[in-house]
Amino acid sequence: MNLHSKMTEQPLLEVRDFQVELITDAGIVRAVDCVSFTIHRGETVTIIGESGSGKSTTAMGILRLLPEDLAVLSGTVRIDGVDVIADPKAIDKVRGRTLALIPQDPMTALSPVHSIGNQLSEAIRIAGAASKDPGAVRARAIRLLEQVHIPTPDAQLKKYPHQLSGGMLQRVLIAIALASEPQLLVADEPTSALDVTVQAGILDLLLELQEQRGIGILMITHDLGVARLISDRIHVMKDGAFVESGEVQQIVENPSTEYTRKLLAAVPVLGAWDETPAATTLTTTGVRHE
Ligand SMILES: Nc1ncnc2c1ncn2[C@@H]1O[C@H](COP(=O)(O)OP(=O)(O)O)[C@@H](O)[C@H]1O
Ligand SMILES: [Mg+2]
Repeated sequence: MNLHSKMTEQPLLEVRDFQVELITDAGIVRAVDCVSFTIHRGETVTIIGESGSGKSTTAMGILRLLPEDLAVLSGTVRIDGVDVIADPKAIDKVRGRTLALIPQDPMTALSPVHSIGNQLSEAIRIAGAASKDPGAVRARAIRLLEQVHIPTPDAQLKKYPHQLSGGMLQRVLIAIALASEPQLLVADEPTSALDVTVQAGILDLLLELQEQRGIGILMITHDLGVARLISDRIHVMKDGAFVESGEVQQIVENPSTEYTRKLLAAVPVLGAWDETPAATTLTTTGVRHE
């Protein structure tokens, strides 16, 4: 996409002066403090920061998944042009259609008492993209599992979550997210619960899906190793606000804050840009983690 078309095209996600105040027992906490960013089709934008910096509150606020009576939202959040702050009901038009969430912990995100096939079929029926005929739903479920590179999808449909590894479960969750053919994926620490080689496979999958479909991705992570593999732009978050923003290379090579340098220091091996992530995501120092 050339620069001109990118500038004139409507962003998938446009966040302006977004603020979230949480009403807690100890008083009001401004968990998200006036953040602004934009995601176009085909872009991955990453919010990185230590645990408690406000990353999940930003993501959940954008998706309007925070409890209405405990979270006060202000500013502008336009999803494919629809302002979901001005009109709280507007989120229903975009959630699960334009927009889908990939949750953090694949081990707990699925129901333990329903088979993979049932949970995927439910998502397909809700998305309404396929015919409701059981044969068509099943064919679509198999196709989705193939798209996330799950081997022998036919056999996996009968299984229950405890029979699959964490990496396979995360692939199932991505398949569920894809059921609605979203244009924007929000992924909150999608690989934090996985070991590094499995993590690399999931990030590869997200990049592949992005290349094939031109979807936009909002990636949330505390791990600069993940951020630099996948991002077009990075916003570094601390205490609810962005302390610096820029192209991934600029942030990694020339961080402007001590806080970002600490996040960088937590990635011990800084090798070539195309190096396998296994060597770059081990964390050792300084920064708190979930
Ligand atoms: N349910 C809650 N009640 C009170 N405070 C909360 C709640 N959820 C988050 N917070 C506070 O909001 C801030 C941001 O949290 P969060 O968005 O979860 O950070 P991150 O995802 O970056 O780890 C933290 O200071 C946290 O203590
Ligand atoms: Mg979080």
